[in-house]
Amino acid sequence: MPIFEIDPDIRRAKTLSSEFYTDPHFFESSKEKIFARSWHLLGHSSSFSDLTPFDLLPNFLSEPLLIAKDNDNVRCLSNVCTHRGKLLVEEPCTANLIRCGYHGRRFSLDGKFLSMPEFEGVENFPCDDDNLRQLPVAKHYGFHFTSIDPIASLESFLGDGSIAFGEFVFKDLNLASTRQYEIDAHWALYCENYLEGFHIPYVHKSLNEIVDYGTYTTELFRYSSLQTGYDSDGNVAARYLFVFPNLMFNFYPWGISVNVVRPVSPSRTIVEYLNYVGDENMLGQGAGADTHSVELEDEAVVECVQKGIRSRFYSHGRYSPTRETGTHHFHRLIAEFMN
Ligand code: FES
Ligand SMILES: [Fe+2]
Repeated sequence: MPIFEIDPDIRRAKTLSSEFYTDPHFFESSKEKIFARSWHLLGHSSSFSDLTPFDLLPNFLSEPLLIAKDNDNVRCLSNVCTHRGKLLVEEPCTANLIRCGYHGRRFSLDGKFLSMPEFEGVENFPCDDDNLRQLPVAKHYGFHFTSIDPIASLESFLGDGSIAFGEFVFKDLNLASTRQYEIDAHWALYCENYLEGFHIPYVHKSLNEIVDYGTYTTELFRYSSLQTGYDSDGNVAARYLFVFPNLMFNFYPWGISVNVVRPVSPSRTIVEYLNYVGDENMLGQGAGADTHSVELEDEAVVECVQKGIRSRFYSHGRYSPTRETGTHHFHRLIAEFMN
């Protein structure tokens, strides 16, 4: 018996059961079932040092990892010493090997065990388990991704939505600014709001003047969806690529704004904005001109939904077959991964 069921026919379907958002048990099991099996952004090639330690989804998956850059090779390794478990690298640095600061075990930049003092006579040593675990790394237009145990390739996660990267070609992309928003709502409520333009005329009055809501389109792929807004002349004003479960790539005339949605608790989410600028002259123009006000409007409405879904009188809604295909697709993926 599946835990969650979303009818494939949107006209018959009911939205995801509110238990998914409110029950801490589902929040916990989504870590392995959804997040460990999908792809996460490491960053853009312009921004890596030789060795960069980081936590994958801090306070959620919290996996200690290490980006190890060796010439043009970008690897993602476990940052945990295979001896007694100390974190290996604590600050970004330049180095040509990794040495543990506890008892001196050494590894090469591809994670291979190199040496260990005072281990003469230890049987079956070194063996595979003494190497650092290496996670898969895949890249697309300079963006690098990793996954703990991917259910499918990055290519299939991006799907045909990845055409947007080729369409908005920027000679250089620079991480010009970052910003973090904290929201009192479940991560999936934030994502499903992003996945429909239905609310634009009601929630985003000024954005509504730039984007022609009547021509807004949503295309669905296996693990991603692509929304396109057009201006009044019929030109692409912006594209919004969502990659399941929590990555948003927003393509604007000035560059790409990436949002990473980080679950913290069933009622708290952090959204990181990484703004990669490609054409400074276009900043402040068009659909991506004022992402901050649009974000605050979205947060307010999503926090209000968080209060509503707790109600004993609410468990499901229905979908608009013309305006909520992206949200329906997202709920179908949640059900698929959770079951
Ligand atoms: S924990 Fe790393 S060498 Fe002992
Ligand atoms: Fe919105």
